[in-house]
Amino acid sequence: MLALDPAQIEAADIYKLMIGMIVPRPIAFVSTIDSSGIRNLAPFSYFTGCSSNPPVLCFSTSVRSGPRPYKDTLENVKATSEFVVNIVSEEFAEQMNATSVSALPEVDEFELSGLTPLPSDLVKPPRVAESKAQMECRLNQIVSVSERPGGGILVLGEVLRFHVLESLLDGYRIDPVKLNAIGRMGGPAYVRTHDLFEMQRPK
Ligand SMILES: Cc1cc2nc3c(=O)[nH]c(=O)nc-3n(C[C@H](O)[C@H](O)[C@H](O)COP(=O)(O)O)c2cc1C
Repeated sequence: MLALDPAQIEAADIYKLMIGMIVPRPIAFVSTIDSSGIRNLAPFSYFTGCSSNPPVLCFSTSVRSGPRPYKDTLENVKATSEFVVNIVSEEFAEQMNATSVSALPEVDEFELSGLTPLPSDLVKPPRVAESKAQMECRLNQIVSVSERPGGGILVLGEVLRFHVLESLLDGYRIDPVKLNAIGRMGGPAYVRTHDLFEMQRPK
């Protein structure tokens, strides 16, 4: 077993270790708008839930080197305090991937990807109609973990509204096979979520 000291490793290589070890990662497909109403879409796999009461989730936007260190998603959340997390199914994986291009802030990423905007109930950013499960969120807090290039700025949002396709639901349980969510691995690899097994927790 190799022991690696992050202090001796370039940030780009630490990133490879992180995304290779922390697998599979769910994908928050985040819709936002800027202060003039331009729509933005981007995937974030540093993503998880962090509270159920109230429901709060978080995703992390990395800091870039150069003149535009912050991602448009972060700038938009700072400006409007609202966003939607759309769960990504295999059926629109390629359109999701198309939105991860480094587009200028004035580019509408719904138009760029061909995905369909669907009005939200409580927030201004639209949902992605192709997504089978979406969460409308209001900003809870922003935690700047590190402002260095490759550092992370964590966005926490309270879920104000869940939307789930009815055919996926048994009570409040979501059928994972019908959801057909994909996850992110290291490099360009993704994972499907069909190969399930069950374990009961010990009493
Ligand atoms: C599946 C996937 C997951 C990604 N996860 C992250 C992430 O967790 N954090 C991040 O900063 N960028 C992540 N990216 C890259 C961003 O999506 C990309 O930088 C995007 O252009 C940001 O868009 P924005 O500037 O419109 O916010 C990911 C890309 C893909 C395809």
